[in-house]
Formats: sequence, C-alpha cells, structure tokens
Amino acid sequence: MSDGYQLVQLRNGTWSVRCLEVAETFHPVVGPEEEAEALYVRQLQLVQRFERHREASPGTPFVIWDVGLGAGANVLVAVRSLMRIQGTLRILSFDHTLSPLRFALSHAVRLGYFGTLQPTVGQLLDSGSAHVSSGSFEARWDVITGDFPSQLPTDTAQRWPKPHCILFDAYSPARNPAMWTLPLFTRLRALAVDHTPCTLATYSRATLLRVTLLQAGWHVGVGHATGEKDETTLAANRGDLIENPLTRAWLQRALRSTSAEPMHEPIYRQEPLSEASRRSLAAHPQFQ
Ligand SMILES: C[S@@+](CC[C@H](N)C(=O)[O-])C[C@H]1O[C@@H](n2cnc3c(N)ncnc32)[C@H](O)[C@@H]1O
Repeated sequence: MSDGYQLVQLRNGTWSVRCLEVAETFHPVVGPEEEAEALYVRQLQLVQRFERHREASPGTPFVIWDVGLGAGANVLVAVRSLMRIQGTLRILSFDHTLSPLRFALSHAVRLGYFGTLQPTVGQLLDSGSAHVSSGSFEARWDVITGDFPSQLPTDTAQRWPKPHCILFDAYSPARNPAMWTLPLFTRLRALAVDHTPCTLATYSRATLLRVTLLQAGWHVGVGHATGEKDETTLAANRGDLIENPLTRAWLQRALRSTSAEPMHEPIYRQEPLSEASRRSLAAHPQFQ
C-alpha cells in the first residue's frame, strides 16, 4: 500500500489498483487489460478509426482524450493497440492527481499492462509530456493536471486539440458527482466539434448518465458488455457512429425511471425526469 492506493488481486487472478479514500477499485472484475480492451479499444474501434483517419487526413494526429488517467491502464492499452500501425497519435490525459499512475508504475510487472511503455510513463510523470516512436508510429502524450470540470469551461480548453475518441473513466457518479453533471457533458460536446467525428465510451449504463448525454447533445447507444456489466454506454457527436442507438422503448423506460434526471450541480441525487427534461428528451433527433 502507498499514497492511498492499494493493489488488489481479482478473482480471475489479475491485479488492479484500488483507491482507499474513494473505496473504489479501478477495473474491478475482469481486470485492467481486458476491460480497457473491451470497453475502449474494441468498442471505439480504435484501430480502424486510427487507420481511416490516417488515410483521410494524412499527417494530422488522431486525438484521444483520456479523462481520468488514474493508473493509466486504459490509455496504455489503447497506445499498445495502435503502436504497430503507421500514423500519428496525440493523447491528452486528464486527472487531478498523478499519484495512482506513480503507484501503478512501481507495480508495473504485477499489473501487466505497461508493455514496453514503462520509460514513457516515467517521462510523463517527470515532465508532464512524453513521446512514443515505434517504426512509422509516432505519439505525443500530455497530461493536464487539475480539476477537469473547472478546466473545461476555460479558453485554454478551447485550444486543446479536438478529440476523435474520449475514454471517460471517472469514479462512480455517487462518489464523484462533479464528473457526471449536465454542464460538464454539455461543454464536452461543444469541444467535440461537429467536423471532427468523435465517440465517447464509458462503463456506466445508468439511465441518469444516458439522459445526461442525450440532453448535452450527444447521440447515445448501448455499449458492449465488459464482463462486469452486460451493457456500457457509447456516445458520439454524429448518429452514424453509433452501432446500437437507444430506442424509443428505452425512452419509455427512462420516462418511468425513478433515477433519470441529470445532475445540474455536483451533488448526487436520484430523481425522476422533470417536465422540462421529458420534453427535451422526446424532442431529441435520435427519437424522431
Ligand atoms: C476510476 S479512476 C481512473 C482509472 C484509469 N482510467 C485507469 O485506466 O487506470 C478515476 C480517476 O478520475 C480522477 N478524477 C476524479 N475526479 C476528478 C476531477 N474532478 N478532475 C480530474 N480528475 C478526476 C481520479 O483522480 C482517478 O484517478
């Protein structure tokens, strides 16, 4: 144990990082490597999108936003999946603390997802920025440290490279409500500009989250199972990027749900939809 984090061994024998203060394990059932593969690499079709981007816009980077860098599993598994492919990658990782990454690096062998990237993570921790070069693959990786919800509305955020993919991995809404509010996802949608195709994946399938994303202007679909969950959530700034869009049958269930109203402030609470939310949901282009 160190710095408020602990290694825990999961039932399948793999190891994961647990934050003692929040009392949550980062990848609690199938482990970091498998969850990152299923939820982000396969679901976001990272390899195919990276290749298509290189062909459509040669020389310009494909951009990943890694929201909740934590112990680095999601982003490292994503980079490893792209490293054998020709192209240029730009990563922005966000977190208000680098302690879990530092902790994970000191247990890299047991965690098993660092591959050859241990020195790269060391470089990132030392200077906030790192480069990966492998054959005709190039990546620049920056970490932006601070409170993500406060950073998003700033002019600086407006200048960040626009995302093609967002790996959204905060703690649960009950423990970490500031990361799941309607203003946050609305601002994120504004930064995911229409002319850059963008998909966002996250582990939650909660009605509250899906309503929040829809009201923030995202198109939203049922995401892949991960071993822990039978469904996750995939959102996009364009409808054609969603394989299994939420249907009108889902909308009917949401209208009856006792926990569907988005959080307008960073205070966790469960409430049925307000009249205004019911109207705006029913008018969402996805359900027309
Ligand atoms: C579940 S962990 C992320 C696990 C990580 N994606 C991985 O693959 O190891 C959630 C992360 O969100 C970060 N976080 C929570 N609230 C935040 C905030 N307000 N601003 C920035 N980061 C935040 C936490 O510090 C934590 O590292």
